[in-house]
Amino acid sequence: MRFADPAEYVIDDPEGGVFRVHRDVYTDRDLFEAELRNIFEGTWVYLCHDSQVRQPFDFYRARIGRRSVIVSRDEHGEVHGFFNTCRHRGATLCQTESGNTKYHVCNYHGWAYDAAGKNINIKDKDKGCYREAFDEQDHNLIPLPRFDSYRGFVFASLNPDVPSLDDHLGDGKVLIDLVADQGVDGMEVVPGRSDYTYNANWKLQMDNGMDPYHLTSTHSTFMKVVQRRAGGESANDQVESPDFRDRFAMKAGMYTLRNGHSMIWNDHPKPEQQPLWGMIDRVRENAGEVKAKWMLRSRNITIFPNLQFNDSSSLVLRSFIPLAPDKTEMKVYSFAPVDEPDECRRRRVRQHEDFFNSSGMATPDDTIVYADCQEGYLSYPGDYLQSFERGMATLIEGPDEEALELGIDPVTSLSGNFLGQGETAYHGPYREWVRLMRAGHNREKSMAAE
Ligand code: FES
Ligand SMILES: [Fe+2]
Repeated sequence: MRFADPAEYVIDDPEGGVFRVHRDVYTDRDLFEAELRNIFEGTWVYLCHDSQVRQPFDFYRARIGRRSVIVSRDEHGEVHGFFNTCRHRGATLCQTESGNTKYHVCNYHGWAYDAAGKNINIKDKDKGCYREAFDEQDHNLIPLPRFDSYRGFVFASLNPDVPSLDDHLGDGKVLIDLVADQGVDGMEVVPGRSDYTYNANWKLQMDNGMDPYHLTSTHSTFMKVVQRRAGGESANDQVESPDFRDRFAMKAGMYTLRNGHSMIWNDHPKPEQQPLWGMIDRVRENAGEVKAKWMLRSRNITIFPNLQFNDSSSLVLRSFIPLAPDKTEMKVYSFAPVDEPDECRRRRVRQHEDFFNSSGMATPDDTIVYADCQEGYLSYPGDYLQSFERGMATLIEGPDEEALELGIDPVTSLSGNFLGQGETAYHGPYREWVRLMRAGHNREKSMAAE
């Protein structure tokens, strides 16, 4: 590692108007290993949504960093989280991504566990000539040290000493509410998903989700398609998407929250194009005027470290899994109110495919520029990036009027119009990166000294 103190990778000087991040944070293998230990295994990590384990005996296989885990609903409806490893010889127990099974039976020697993780069969145990010491051991699946959920979003932590999920999410809960309250009768992951890997660091996705600045350049093809559609040159009547240029004068802003969460938003020039529009009266009645207004704004939300929502032409749930410094796995879902009318669902799915799907008109452009960055970092490794300072001259500490209306207390707020395209929403996640990496570094240092 280039610096002993992780804080040196981020120059954070709000007074001087400086915020810079070193290129090594995206490429250095030792830093990546430290991120797995101190961030992915050190704080709360998003695993899945309740609707992916809706029925008794439903299960979903997820990852915390590189650890494979199982989320499982038992016969009484309670949801559990376990490490995905058999107690016998340690084989991976659950091989499939999701499904429904009363019992998880290990492929290797046939030990079986129920949906609550209890060992219910040790094959041929009565012939096994075990001593009593064997019976004195716990043979059940090993529960995750911390396991909790908020509004149906399931999180876990490998760190038993992590603060409560409630504390970790903080004002991020209000941002999640803007998603969860869209479903008067609940929300669900729409069947089907995009799974893909890209050849770059996980933070490229985290950052890009908070980056309005790239839209008009990275997605110029999409912009042209939209303009042709608006000009009547397309026969595609399945989707509606706002011309980006209509957004330029619209009100916009971004917030950094405590614990690394953040949000960018802008007023939507044509909210009637959004899938939620068909249900908005019911939502307004249920969630109130202010929340309904915010739901019709385009919003991108990061719940640090691995959950993002994009809510614009469609509502998208993304989570990411770091595989290597230069490889990341993405899981992308369309997310919807369970009770939405068919017409809204149709529009939601078509607009999801159009822009967000791995085969859509945005995602391939994004993943290619991530890989371009990854390669570019190696071209001149010693440098600090200059992509964190746009908007710093108008950044304020604390909440702006819009934040007060929403009921959040951000660390910083940036308001303006969409063309301002600020870069300050990254500050929160990188401050949390420094906090966790530093705490882990100091812990490891004092353990080494003992
Ligand atoms: S490793 Fe699972 S039964 Fe042997
Ligand atoms: Fe993009």
